[in-house]
Amino acid sequence: MGLSVIPRVPTSDVSGASSGRAGIRNRPTGPRRILPLAVSLARDAAELEDHFAIRRDVFVAAQGLFEDDDRDERDPQPATLHAVGRAGDHVAGAVRLYPLDDRGLWKGDRLAVLSGDRVNRLGAMLVRFAVATAGERGGERMIAQIQFGNVPFFVRLGWERDGDPTMLLGLVHQPMAIGLEG
Ligand SMILES: CC(C)(COP(=O)(O)OP(=O)(O)OC[C@H]1O[C@@H](n2cnc3c(N)ncnc32)[C@H](O)[C@@H]1OP(=O)(O)O)[C@@H](O)C(=O)NCCC(=O)NCCS
Repeated sequence: MGLSVIPRVPTSDVSGASSGRAGIRNRPTGPRRILPLAVSLARDAAELEDHFAIRRDVFVAAQGLFEDDDRDERDPQPATLHAVGRAGDHVAGAVRLYPLDDRGLWKGDRLAVLSGDRVNRLGAMLVRFAVATAGERGGERMIAQIQFGNVPFFVRLGWERDGDPTMLLGLVHQPMAIGLEG
């Protein structure tokens, strides 16, 4: 399972982009790096370690939300899915998802893109991948706790507010949700 896309680039530069998979070319916009994107579940131990490394870089080193490591009891569980997002030849993003019950409720968390790669729309692609993957696996609804500053980003992706903001890890988070399709 995977998604790939060539990010939006000026039309004149599109011919310079390459992707091993079918790409989606978006409308032209301002200057962006020309990197083919791809998102998939981590396929082996090395990709799983890449996933964790992205999370450590963003949530431990950059945001300081965790002291040493953000891994928790969810990570080793068999039902937990770990996705990686690639920009060009390197892993640049991650997201985690898992079912919360057997009635179709899923949760997504640990969405992260390396700061130097936040120009490609990889974050949006990771969110869409998590939503599509949970839907394919029978999910009906996905919830997430969203750092307050990212609420507009999720609204643009079709998510809705799902309750009052709460404090988590010292930051205001907005509960949000989206319906899933199989
Ligand atoms: C949030 C995050 C994953 C977004 O990833 P990204 O790759 O930069 O996002 P994208 O490039 O896919 O953004 C898609 C669009 O949303 C916009 N956008 C991104 N973050 C936004 C935000 N916080 N608020 C409003 N718009 C935002 C982008 O500008 C882009 O707009 P455009 O299509 O008009 O150019 C990334 O900024 C990140 O890792 N942040 C630190 C960790 C974090 O906050 N994780 C989420 C916890 S809830």
